[in-house]
Amino acid sequence: MANVVVVGSQWGDEGKGKIVDWLSSRADVVVRFQGGHNAGHTLVVDGVTYKLSLLPSGVVRGGKLSVIGNGVVLDPWAFLSEVERIKEQGVKVNPENLLISESAALILPIHSELDGIRENRADGIKIGTTKRGIGPAYEDKVARRAIRVCDLADEEHLLARLENLLHHHNALRRGLGHPETNADELYAKLLEIAPKILPFMAPVWHSLNEAVRSDKKILFEGAQGAMLDIDHGTYPFVTSSNTIAGQAAAGSGMGPSALNFVLGITKAYTTRVGEGPFPTELNDAIGQRLGERGHEFGTVTGRQRRCGWFDAVMVKQAIITGGITGISLTKLDVLDGMAELKICVGYKLDGKIVKRLPAGAANQAAVEPIYESMPGWQGSTRGARSWADLPAEAVKYVRRLEELIGCPVSMVSTSPEREDVILMRDPFKA
Ligand code: IMP
Repeated sequence: MANVVVVGSQWGDEGKGKIVDWLSSRADVVVRFQGGHNAGHTLVVDGVTYKLSLLPSGVVRGGKLSVIGNGVVLDPWAFLSEVERIKEQGVKVNPENLLISESAALILPIHSELDGIRENRADGIKIGTTKRGIGPAYEDKVARRAIRVCDLADEEHLLARLENLLHHHNALRRGLGHPETNADELYAKLLEIAPKILPFMAPVWHSLNEAVRSDKKILFEGAQGAMLDIDHGTYPFVTSSNTIAGQAAAGSGMGPSALNFVLGITKAYTTRVGEGPFPTELNDAIGQRLGERGHEFGTVTGRQRRCGWFDAVMVKQAIITGGITGISLTKLDVLDGMAELKICVGYKLDGKIVKRLPAGAANQAAVEPIYESMPGWQGSTRGARSWADLPAEAVKYVRRLEELIGCPVSMVSTSPEREDVILMRDPFKA
């Protein structure tokens, strides 16, 4: 029995969708354990394209159980519209194949509004969030005033909980010059939506434990990436959850011993959306070329992604903090035809060489990458399914990355097509 956790090892958008889809076809249960509808991935199954944001990838495949764990923040309106959208595509979604944790905190309209208000302010730090209310919802969860899924079933106390929540939010809104939110109106909205959400509610920790006991294969589907982790990422330019694999246990109610293999999805170069330090960023024709060839636009917000060289220092750090067992290297084909490739192997900071990304934001912004150069390849890696199909320089590049990050490559993805994969080690059989 091997349960697999898939996480991003950079700043998200590493191409998790395709790999998660490949793995979910081999899993029985697919679990989201953090984040919310800030994530976005596109799946192509039997020629049909599905765009998912909050729902676990397993939902588009028959015979799988999909689970939204307690670590997720759930916008009930976004959830229902996503369910409606994929139902229109002929996908069956019902409480038999989709469960939502009773303990998941809700994202309410006050959260997305606050996210937008903060991001649009002229003063203060701009994070470049997705404005989905993710951060404000996690803030309320940690502050113990959130409305959780189980509260929707408790009409008697829901209004008092909302008043408590709004006591805080209205003070904030007044301070920011925005009109207050009325508790009765929000209460009415929640009562209206509750009957549509509650059928999916379940003690997820218990259902997952049952699944383990009956030898089901579980895939934990991470969103975003290690460098967006609230503790280990480029704080404050991060998302508001732990994105590393350890969260798969806490965010679903399983013990850490249930996590057997951690697959770190790693792009063959680096991208980031939103604000924040990016030591290997390329603001030149090469960066532009990577963006164009790699179609680097955000799935959720459509924003253009910043592009740069592979940062082995950062990925090595992600491997360690995330306990990554093997990586899946994606988008190697985007590098086809480049004369020279650079890999960041260290940083210079105040005239000294450092081998780790410093924790402070100012130092993270100040580090200068130290590059190692490798020859590129002229042949094509696109669609390759075995090592023998790759140009020799491409094999050397992959082997060098392995050495530098201290982690073996389990899979190489060579095109958006699901079966275009060079497989070294099947995570479910590891
Ligand atoms: P938030 O998660 O909306 O609060 O955004 C915080 C930061 O995480 C911003 O830099 C976003 O661009 C980034 N982010 C959030 N979700 C994703 C994702 O799925 N892929 C890449 N970046 C993301």
